[in-house]
Amino acid sequence: MSEGKINIAVFVSGGGTNLQALIDKQKSGVISSGKIKLVISSREDAYAIKRAKKAGIPCEVVSKRECGSQQEFEKRILSLLKEYNIELIVLAGFMSILSENFTAKYPKRIVNVHPSLIPSFCGKGYFGLHVHEAALAYGVKVTGATVHYVNEIPDGGEIIMQKAVEVCDGDTPETLQKRVMVNAEWIILPQSVEKVSALLLKEKS
Ligand code: GAR
Repeated sequence: MSEGKINIAVFVSGGGTNLQALIDKQKSGVISSGKIKLVISSREDAYAIKRAKKAGIPCEVVSKRECGSQQEFEKRILSLLKEYNIELIVLAGFMSILSENFTAKYPKRIVNVHPSLIPSFCGKGYFGLHVHEAALAYGVKVTGATVHYVNEIPDGGEIIMQKAVEVCDGDTPETLQKRVMVNAEWIILPQSVEKVSALLLKEKS
């Protein structure tokens, strides 16, 4: 426990703009019930690692390839979570799937941000830019982002928050991705993390 706050670990694999939003909102006080204690990256070249280091947050790289198996990968992560006494896990652009064996250990204690309005464009194969490519290919006029609890079904856990974003004429997957990040993900992820941290704090008291 840290100063009566929920200990948070953020899992990343790439640019880490959502991690940055969490760091900034922790600084500005939007996140006050929890504290980011650890960042775990599944890739050693993720830019997110630099963001964690700049913010003075311990960062560990756990690569599935180096671990050799899903079981070893999750074992290593679980031991880090124990070491840092983590109570809430935030998947912020984490591109590895966690097994049911893992998610069952943290019921309602893992949240994920997904760049569409679930149940559209979600589940296996829908991640990162692919989600926006699919939204444009379908021709939807509104998309958005969803923050949800993580269970054994990919993108299938209970929804915590959603925010809609307009699709504009001439959008490319990249322009749409940016608009969804700025206008939805970077807002509802920190808000959801505060909401869940406050709930967990209340549960403890
Ligand atoms: C974000 O758009 C996030 O929603 C998405 O990957 C991007 C990561 O960006 N996550 C998924 O697609 C998970 N299914 P970031 O590393 O800059 O935060």
